[in-house]
Amino acid sequence: MKAKSDKKNTKKYNICVVGAGHVGLVAAACFAKLGHAVSCVDSDLRRIKALKNNKMPFYEPDLECLVKKGVKEKNLSFLTSLVEGVRKAQVIFIAVGTPPQKDGSADLSSVENVAQVIAGNLNSYKLIISKSTVPVQTGKKIKETISRYKKSSQNFEVASNPEFLREGKAIYDFFYPDRIVIGVESSTAEHILRDIYSKVDAPIIVTDVNTAELIKHASNSFLATKISFINAVSRICDLAGADISKITQAMGMDKRIGRDFLNAGIGYGGFCFPKDLEAFSYISKKLGYDFDLLKEVKNINEGQRKNFVEKVKERLWIIKNKKIAVLGLAFKPDTDDMRFAPSVDIINFFLKEGAHLTLYDPQAKPEAVKLFSAKGGSASGGKAGRLKFSKGPYEAIKGSDCLCLLTEWGEFKKLNLEKVKRIMRYPLIADGRNFFDKNKVCSLGFEYIGMGMQSDGQSSNTKK
Ligand SMILES: NC(=O)c1ccc[n+]([C@@H]2O[C@H](COP(=O)([O-])OP(=O)(O)OC[C@H]3O[C@@H](n4cnc5c(N)ncnc54)[C@H](O)[C@@H]3O)[C@@H](O)[C@H]2O)c1
Repeated sequence: MKAKSDKKNTKKYNICVVGAGHVGLVAAACFAKLGHAVSCVDSDLRRIKALKNNKMPFYEPDLECLVKKGVKEKNLSFLTSLVEGVRKAQVIFIAVGTPPQKDGSADLSSVENVAQVIAGNLNSYKLIISKSTVPVQTGKKIKETISRYKKSSQNFEVASNPEFLREGKAIYDFFYPDRIVIGVESSTAEHILRDIYSKVDAPIIVTDVNTAELIKHASNSFLATKISFINAVSRICDLAGADISKITQAMGMDKRIGRDFLNAGIGYGGFCFPKDLEAFSYISKKLGYDFDLLKEVKNINEGQRKNFVEKVKERLWIIKNKKIAVLGLAFKPDTDDMRFAPSVDIINFFLKEGAHLTLYDPQAKPEAVKLFSAKGGSASGGKAGRLKFSKGPYEAIKGSDCLCLLTEWGEFKKLNLEKVKRIMRYPLIADGRNFFDKNKVCSLGFEYIGMGMQSDGQSSNTKK
């Protein structure tokens, strides 16, 4: 961790983090590492019980070690009682889920629930900070709720401190953020938040609460737009016979554009971009502005999944009874998170067409098993015994007619492609992330499908 000044003594705050999920648990462990006294509360009793037994509820590199250290040093504890967490804290971070509803709006019932409990337990001044991603004006609603239901005359303030961490790199992102955004209503709240983060060396942007909330929605929507933009360009590449990899390389070298989030593929997924885009669209419309651009970003994203399966279908002709190996299920590498993962739609499509699928992911198998079981297929055999999980990539690939790469896990770079070709029934690679070196796989005799990559093998990469 990059300390601003080793000599500087940080004031120790009693912090309660509500929600022990991908954001809450990471934040709780990291605040404990910064030296604060943190209690992390979750309404999921099994989750808290598991955490008390040192069992992590999801895969996140280095998290287990940090949690164990916090607990050992007595800076971190886990609670099921929100009342207890609220009463002993001066600072409360709300990090509960804000899932999408059918109409696209964010379900803020968990946030409201927490606000009500805080209202009933205001035994001292408290600063209540939303870390959950919420639509603009949610802070105002939290404040109204607490004011309405509070039973004491104690003061409180509401603030916003949106989280920008990436799953898979969450600990690093917490300690080395590009910026920390704090939306506050007073210098007291600003002072507390600056104090809490005083050991993290990052620029702090101070705004009002509404602006901080909007920064998060605008940032995620912009990144999703960048991905959809380059995916739309990749469609033109397919049609015109151009190479998206060279286009992104050249565009990315322009400092005004930048190379990040400029990878063509099967599109974005996860718990943030799809729902935040929808929620931003919804709140914009509610406020009186129709953000049509965001609707198109979503359409392009969904179109990429369809485009991918159409490409495979075009090569295999009949999908029924073909054996398809799927490598990568999580919505991105280094996480086991399957929420809104593009792999889910793609797998369901192939299943519907009658294919036999063997799935492999280095971490996401337990989540995938839960997900496909919940959808009515038996995880061990699928609805008609057509969905299997394998323990390793070669087991999945063996005897297959097509290898679909859906998540770019680093371990897939180490695949022995000669062996892969030997054990496949038909050497076809459908690369949903433009992850493999197309020239290499083509020179080994594979047929290659990429996204905007001149899939016939005549890449401009070969033209020196
Ligand atoms: N996952 C990410 O990469 C990420 C990044 C930045 C921001 N966010 C935002 O942070 C928020 C949390 O996301 P997440 O991925 O951590 O979700 P998550 O589903 O992993 O965790 C949410 C946790 O909150 C708990 N919870 C729900 N209601 C509760 C209540 N009333 N009291 C106590 N606990 C309760 C749930 O049991 C769950 O453990 C969301 O608003 C999300 O958009 C997520």
